[in-house]
Amino acid sequence: MATRTHYCGSLTAANVGETVTLNGWVNAYRAHGQALVFVDLRDRAGIAQATFEQGSTPDPIIEAGSKLRNEDCVAVTGTVRKREKPNPKIPTGEVELVVQSMTVLSKTARLPFVPSDESNLPDEETRLKFRYLDLRRPRMQEILRIRHRVAKVTRDYFDANGFLEVETPMLCRSTPEGARDFLVPSRLQEGMWYALPQSPQLFKQILMIAGTDRYLQIVKCFRDEDPRFDRQAEFTQIDLEMAFVDREIVMQTMEGFAKTLWKQVLGVDLADFPRMTYREAMDRYGIDRPDTRYGLELVDVSELAKQTEFGVFTSALDKRRGVVKAIRVPGAAEKLTRKILDGYGTFVQQFGAGGLPFVKYVNGAFEGGVAKFLAPIAEGLVAALGLENDDAVVFGADTYAVVTKALGELRQKIAKDLDIIPKGAWNFLWVYDFPMFEYDAETGRYYSLHHPFTAPTQAETERFLAADPADVDTIESIVSDGYDMICNGSEIGGGSIRIHRQDVQKKVFSLLGLTEEQAKLKFSFLLEALSFGAPPHGGIAFGLDRLVMHMAGTENIREVIAFPKTMTGQDLMCEAPNLVDEEQLKELHVKSTARLPASV
Ligand code: AMO
Ligand code: AMP
Repeated sequence: MATRTHYCGSLTAANVGETVTLNGWVNAYRAHGQALVFVDLRDRAGIAQATFEQGSTPDPIIEAGSKLRNEDCVAVTGTVRKREKPNPKIPTGEVELVVQSMTVLSKTARLPFVPSDESNLPDEETRLKFRYLDLRRPRMQEILRIRHRVAKVTRDYFDANGFLEVETPMLCRSTPEGARDFLVPSRLQEGMWYALPQSPQLFKQILMIAGTDRYLQIVKCFRDEDPRFDRQAEFTQIDLEMAFVDREIVMQTMEGFAKTLWKQVLGVDLADFPRMTYREAMDRYGIDRPDTRYGLELVDVSELAKQTEFGVFTSALDKRRGVVKAIRVPGAAEKLTRKILDGYGTFVQQFGAGGLPFVKYVNGAFEGGVAKFLAPIAEGLVAALGLENDDAVVFGADTYAVVTKALGELRQKIAKDLDIIPKGAWNFLWVYDFPMFEYDAETGRYYSLHHPFTAPTQAETERFLAADPADVDTIESIVSDGYDMICNGSEIGGGSIRIHRQDVQKKVFSLLGLTEEQAKLKFSFLLEALSFGAPPHGGIAFGLDRLVMHMAGTENIREVIAFPKTMTGQDLMCEAPNLVDEEQLKELHVKSTARLPASV
């Protein structure tokens, strides 16, 4: 085979006159009879035109060239010359390769789809089944490159800041961390099981106790949850931990990282990140990961609502923690038609709202919807919401929890529907001061908002230790030392200052419903480690796949993973998961109770 001298995508006018060899795939071909054949050859770096022409190319080579088809793999050697008609659409468009010899390295079988035909891509299942063809597409190669750059810049940044990359085990013990575990049976320890890590959380804390001081790992994590557009069961974290730090130091270090990443990968300078408490985020945006690229904020109009005789408002305000909130939708009086608003009414019902009162502000007066109820508070509403002509207003009236959830979700839907999200904006922020716990009345127990190793803020520690577990209001009011990094409404990273005191950790476990026995059984190694001079420490983990989604501008996490799983957890190329031999199961001391269809 003729060995490559240049990448296809690297040829420029500077190469004119040189004899070069290119290796790659046929991206497109055009034959003009037997005398002239153009073949666009593609490799990772781009596309170059190879020209087979009578006079310069031997006849048998022209003939072989005329038989090439998309995705055949070839080596061509020839001379670079300036094109008569440059093609400004491709970077190598000024030049072409006049072919003198060619080796067909391998012919392709009938293609299930043509990777170069971007306008005619098949469904995602076909792309995933033939992922090697799909990944040949320049767009996919670009995403792989971005992903590589992210990993490289990450290692460089943290190396420069004194972090050590330490690997942690993939075969762990199952610990309750929130999601369901993937389990692996042990052959050597009959009846015992490993769990794949949901994150290296406990190992990185142990590393801090072990004196590693600053830890980094780009690491696979496994959570047996249903996949979503931004969630895979197997995903990658940029995982970090630092000892002898407070929240401020961690946030500064991580903000510096995000800025460096955006600068070095995208050439974008990010401004300092605003910070918002959890409470403010919930009040103003109805969500703990607010998308601040647009307004549509939630405004509490309970005081005004009280002054109406509108039954929906007054009965909401009679409830425990009842509120009335409004969203002003600027200039949308016409765009939000009756039909759309009815649809929104149904939309909010899935979040527990009873409906969606609305009104329009036109020529200085309210009209439509619930206008007739608003007369006594018209002036107050106009002022509170800053209404202008042709605005629409939607209301949420229920408990704080229901209104927040319903309007928070609706806000995002309206922004998408009305296409008001600015393109190219990067709105980063920190959300902090989360509650430590949420009480679930149905199960009658507390849940950690982050994870059970997150510390209360220093100012809250004594209040936390003194709090009576039966006093739900007090427990729910304890503020944790956690923080999330948000980018354009998506949580790209989350972390906290950790508990480094055994007494605090024990109290958290007991609030989460673990008896002392259970806590010892599951976490004795942590509790023990905490008793040997544990330093204060904290950290964060970024979702690497999510970072790449933002940087590459994709809406689907599967686009940024070379070999992702489908929504039903399958690898369509390898056909995993799959059956195993009875013999394998026996060795592992496992008996399957699955009822398989007769055909398998
Ligand atoms: P957390 O569970 O918040 O924290 O995860 C950290 C970040 O990982 C990303 N992420 C995911 N990405 C893709 N698919 C998933 N299924 C998925 N789950 C999470 C998110 C998230 O912000 N050990 C703690 C971190 C810490 O406290 O330091 C942890 O795992 O971007
Ligand atoms: P009605 O008084 O039933 O005509 O409702 C007036 C408006 O209030 C409609 O837009 C309904 O969608 C909305 N609505 C009705 N019931 C509720 C409720 N329980 N909670 C919130 N909105 C409601």
